[in-house]
Amino acid sequence: MRIAVPAETQGAETRVAVTPETVRKFIGLGADVAVEKGAGLASGITDGEYEAAGAKLAGSAAEALAGADIVLKVRRPAEGEIAGLPAGALVVGIMDPYGSEAQVEALAKANVSAFAMEFMPRITRAQVMDVLSSQANLAGYRAVVDGAAEYGRALPMMMTAAGTVPAAKIFIMGVGVAGLQAIATARRMGAIVTATDVRPATKEQVESLGAKFLAVEDEEFKQAQTAGGYAKEMSKEYQAKQAELTASHIAKQDIVITTALIPGRPAPKLISAAMVESMKPGSVIVDLAVERGGNCELAKPGEVVTTANGVKIVGHLNVPGRLPATSSSLYAKNLFAFVETLIDKAEKKLAVNWEDELVKATCLTKGGAVIHPNFAAKA
Ligand code: NAI
Repeated sequence: MRIAVPAETQGAETRVAVTPETVRKFIGLGADVAVEKGAGLASGITDGEYEAAGAKLAGSAAEALAGADIVLKVRRPAEGEIAGLPAGALVVGIMDPYGSEAQVEALAKANVSAFAMEFMPRITRAQVMDVLSSQANLAGYRAVVDGAAEYGRALPMMMTAAGTVPAAKIFIMGVGVAGLQAIATARRMGAIVTATDVRPATKEQVESLGAKFLAVEDEEFKQAQTAGGYAKEMSKEYQAKQAELTASHIAKQDIVITTALIPGRPAPKLISAAMVESMKPGSVIVDLAVERGGNCELAKPGEVVTTANGVKIVGHLNVPGRLPATSSSLYAKNLFAFVETLIDKAEKKLAVNWEDELVKATCLTKGGAVIHPNFAAKA
């Protein structure tokens, strides 16, 4: 059983799919692991560390992939990589398949079984495999660090001989995994933190972290959480009430961090140009939803915009990739926990149970066809 880890090919991707720790664990399960030279460098992992863990170093992606049964990736293989994937191999990574149906079809044509880690069900057994949570948690932390770095003042209150520095006011919009970590981080850094969400369950979570909750708590709010634990898209009326409530609050904030997402929909627009206009010069907005259309009307993907009134709007892409050593270590553990379930430990060989709910939920392609219910019909 051979596992291949080619280097990520997209320049912006700093993460890597295995760490020396998971290489050792895979070898413990009877696998050979081939890692392309340099694959871990951006995450601070040298070839020597992989070699010391027992991996074989490959001089090229093709050499790593030759004869592989399992290919581990952070991102979906790019067009140029697909031809190099060994037929019949399992390819596991973040597949980002929506809007990329042609690429999913190309993976099917290459006769590989592609697994989308982000489709892992959020059930207790799969918590350790939940890449959305492991990466969003770090993005929430990093958003506060990035916001603090752009902000020209200190976050905590300081009483010094030269005078008193007031605590910064930070407002977190969207309190899922990223938002909760942003609240905790901002509190640790000494800011005065408020937060909003449309799901009622978040109120207690916000308060338990020592922050103040602010939301339009009407009948629609009470129904806003789906059975899956996600937010629904809110009505125009609700959005108007929410904007009215948050507008005056945003005007008084030093840093606003937005994390709001709705599965399968563009990110809700929560901060209008007028709201940005109302903020003080030197204030900062960090938009973590920028890859999904943005929560702030003026956010630009991959850019830090400074508006005419001196507000900075941070739109970094791949925020977990801004702390690649930590995000890789957690991502690699998520991958190991899933791939381990595809291996027969006694026989030391691949043994995929195609009826397992985790396999069914994540498998996009198999046997030359797109089999995932969300894509099969469209492809
Ligand atoms: P997400 O990334 O889909 O969305 C982020 C947040 O934005 C959510 O809290 C959502 O309610 C909020 N939001 C959406 N529209 C909004 C609007 N118009 N205004 C303000 N906020 C808005 O959410 P994430 O982080 O994936 O979490 C979703 C759920 O999954 C949560 O209930 C979380 O507790 C749960 N979860 C469960 C896990 C498990 O294994 N049981 C693991 C991780 C998360």
